Amino acid sequence: MTQRYCLTCLSLALALSCARAPKPRAPQPAPATSPRAAENAPRSVSHQPSSPQLARLLPLPQRVEAAAGERFTFTPQTTIVAGENQPLVMNVAAQLVAFLRRATGVVPPVVAGPEPAPPANVIALTIDANASTSEEGYDLTIASGRVTVRARTPAGLFYAVQTIRQLLPDSAEYTALMFREPPVVTLPAVHIVDAPRYAWRGTMLDVARHFFSVDEVKHYIDLIALYKINRLHLHLADDQGWRIEIKSWPELARRGGASEVGGGPGGYYTQEQYADLVQYAASHFVTIVPEIDMPGHTNALLSSYADLNCNGTAPATYTGTEVGFSALCVDLDVTYKFIDDIVREIAALTPGPYFHAGGDEVKTLTPDQYRRFVERVQTIVQSHGKQMVGWDEVSVATLLETSIVQHWRPDASKQLLAGSPHLLLSPADRAYLDMKYDDSTLLGLNWAGNVSLQKAYDWDPEALVPGARAGAVVGVEAPVWSETLTNMRDVEFMAFPRLPAVAEIGWTPQAQRSWNTFKERVAAQAPRWTALGINFYRTPDIQWRESNPQ
Ligand code: ACM
Repeated sequence: MTQRYCLTCLSLALALSCARAPKPRAPQPAPATSPRAAENAPRSVSHQPSSPQLARLLPLPQRVEAAAGERFTFTPQTTIVAGENQPLVMNVAAQLVAFLRRATGVVPPVVAGPEPAPPANVIALTIDANASTSEEGYDLTIASGRVTVRARTPAGLFYAVQTIRQLLPDSAEYTALMFREPPVVTLPAVHIVDAPRYAWRGTMLDVARHFFSVDEVKHYIDLIALYKINRLHLHLADDQGWRIEIKSWPELARRGGASEVGGGPGGYYTQEQYADLVQYAASHFVTIVPEIDMPGHTNALLSSYADLNCNGTAPATYTGTEVGFSALCVDLDVTYKFIDDIVREIAALTPGPYFHAGGDEVKTLTPDQYRRFVERVQTIVQSHGKQMVGWDEVSVATLLETSIVQHWRPDASKQLLAGSPHLLLSPADRAYLDMKYDDSTLLGLNWAGNVSLQKAYDWDPEALVPGARAGAVVGVEAPVWSETLTNMRDVEFMAFPRLPAVAEIGWTPQAQRSWNTFKERVAAQAPRWTALGINFYRTPDIQWRESNPQ
C-alpha cells in the first residue's frame, strides 16, 4: 500500500512537473546595440522533472540550477554546522532545527566550527564575504550528504533557511505534536543563487483602528518571514486609538489607547512589550517601522490632552471610520514639544533607522501650514537619528535627501513623486490588502477598486513613477488597514494569497516574474497554509492544490 502510494506520488509529481516545467530557452542572440545586455540578463530558471519541490519556491529565487546528482537525505546523524559561534547565526541555526524536528522527527545537533569532511551528513551555515554581492543574498548547494549555505550576513543565511523550509514537506508546518511514521525526508540536488531585488519588502499592520495584541503581531511576523518580507510597519496611532506607551505623556496610552473602531476596548503596547516585539521581529530579520500619523488622523491624541487642541478643549474619543477631520494645532509651541518627546521615546526603543510620521489626508490645514509642519517634523525625526517616512502627500514639502515618500494614492502627482529622494511603493489599487478581492468579499473596503490576486501581482515598481530618480525606489509595501478587520483570522484572509504576491515583486527580478508561473507556485502554497492554520482566500482564479508531491 505504502509503495503504491509512493509510486502514484512519483508519477503524479512527474506529470505535474513535466506539464509545468518551462521550455528551456533557446539561446538568444545579443542585441546589436547592447552587447552587454545578454551577459547581464537574468538566467532562466530550470525545474527538473524529478524535483517538484523546486517548482513551489516563492518568491522565485534569482537562479535555480537543478543538479543531476543524488538528493540529500536527512538521517538521525544529520548535523548542523554553524561556521561561527555568533548569536545571529546560532539563532538562524535554531530556527532551522525547529523546522527539521517537525519535518523528520529528529532534533539535529548544532555545532560551531569548520565543516567536517565527508561522509558526515551535514548542513553547513557559513558567513562568507564573497558568497553574494548582496547583503541579504545567499548561495545554497544541496548535494548528496551535504547542504552548504553561504551568505555575507546572518540575514542571507535566514533567507536560505526559508528556502530550505519551502523544500521540506508541507506537514512540517504543523506545530501540534503529531504521531507519524518515521518519514524519509529528502531535498533535491540543486544550486540556488539568490538575492532580493529591493531592500524594502514590507507590510503594514494598522493596529490603531483595531488593536492587535503582542501575540497576534508575533504571529503575523511568523507568517511574513516565510516569504522573506523584512519590514513591518506598525500604524501605531490614528483617530480611533493610540497604541504605544509614552512615559512623558501617559494619557496617550491610558485614554487614547482605550478605544477602537466599533467601540471595542482597544489596547496599547507598554514600552517593554514594544521592545519585545522589536526583538522578536529582529530574530526574523524584520525591521519594525513605527508610525505616528500626524498632523491629521490625530483624534486619539487630541482627546487625551486638551492642551494640544487650538481651542484648549479635548474632543470625545472617536470610533467611526471617517477621515480628515482631525489635525494637530500646528501653530502651538507645545505641539512641537509633544512631537519631540514622542519621537525621542519611540526612537530610543526602535533600533531600525526609520520613523514614519504619516502626513496623509489632512483636510483642515492650509497648504502652507501643512508644508511647514512636514519640514519641521522631518528635522525633529532627523535630530533623533532616524529617517522620516511619510505618505505621498509629504512630497509637496522640501524633503531631506534621507526622507522616504510612501506612494499610496493612485492619483497622486507623478511629477511630485518623481522629485522624491526615495520612493516606497504601496499603490492602493495594487498593494492595499484591505481592498476587497472581488464583489463577493465581505471584509475590506473598495474605494480603490477590487484588488484581485493578479492585480496585486502583475505590476512593475519601476514603471509606476515615470521620471523617478535612478535608484529612488527602495521597495514595495503591502498595507493592511483594519477598519473592517477585527482579528488575525480577518488579517490572514486579506493578506493570503496577496501578500506573497507583493513579496515576490519585492524579491524577484522583474524579467523572471510571470503571472503564469506565479499561479502555479502560489497554488502549491495551499497545503502549507493549511498546515499553518492560515485562513486564506481560495481565490477562484487559482487551482489550489490539496497536497504537494515531495
Ligand atoms: C492612507 O491610506 N490614508 C495612507
